[in-house]
Amino acid sequence: MIQIREMEFDDLSAVMEIENENFSKPWTENGFFTFLIRDDTLFLVACEDDQILGYCGVVMVMDEGDITNVAVSKNRQNQGIGKLLVEEMIKRTQTAGVSKLYLEVRQSNLRAIHVYEKLGFVQNGLRKNYYEAPTEDGILMVHA
Ligand SMILES: CC(C)(COP(=O)(O)OP(=O)(O)OC[C@H]1O[C@@H](n2cnc3c(N)ncnc32)[C@H](O)[C@@H]1OP(=O)(O)O)[C@@H](O)C(=O)NCCC(=O)NCCS
Repeated sequence: MIQIREMEFDDLSAVMEIENENFSKPWTENGFFTFLIRDDTLFLVACEDDQILGYCGVVMVMDEGDITNVAVSKNRQNQGIGKLLVEEMIKRTQTAGVSKLYLEVRQSNLRAIHVYEKLGFVQNGLRKNYYEAPTEDGILMVHA
């Protein structure tokens, strides 16, 4: 059974494998570490037995949150895990008093956009050339 729980330091090597296989400009392990130790962040992992399948992170400021990371292990994508993670993140941040969640996504990332829209995010802006490698516009989305 897939469970969602808070990310722990011991998860970082598995998280880094997923990060590296999915992104051309991956976060470093130290990057994750510095966010994990902050009080204003929430990082969740999806796991099955002892295996990490994906993760999602958010930074919160007052009643607003910014989703910084969402990724699922390549060999487990398209099985509902990303949706589970973001859904749980919405629930937990709402409980913590967050009423607006923001995120950016590559314009070409139709799968991610589909997942976010299914969960109630709407597109509300374009960030010109927001992404590198390759250069691409970012779509700004909000869940309120
Ligand atoms: C984006 C990502 C997090 C989504 O997680 P996931 O577990 O693969 O997605 P899910 O299985 O929960 O949902 C996929 C949905 O997208 C749909 N989908 C798949 N490919 C699609 C495409 N090319 N265009 C539109 N919709 C698509 C699926 O049908 C499914 O929708 P449904 O539930 O209505 O049938 C994951 O694919 C991933 O890690 N991608 C690489 C990293 C990334 O892009 N992260 C997001 C950065 S903003």
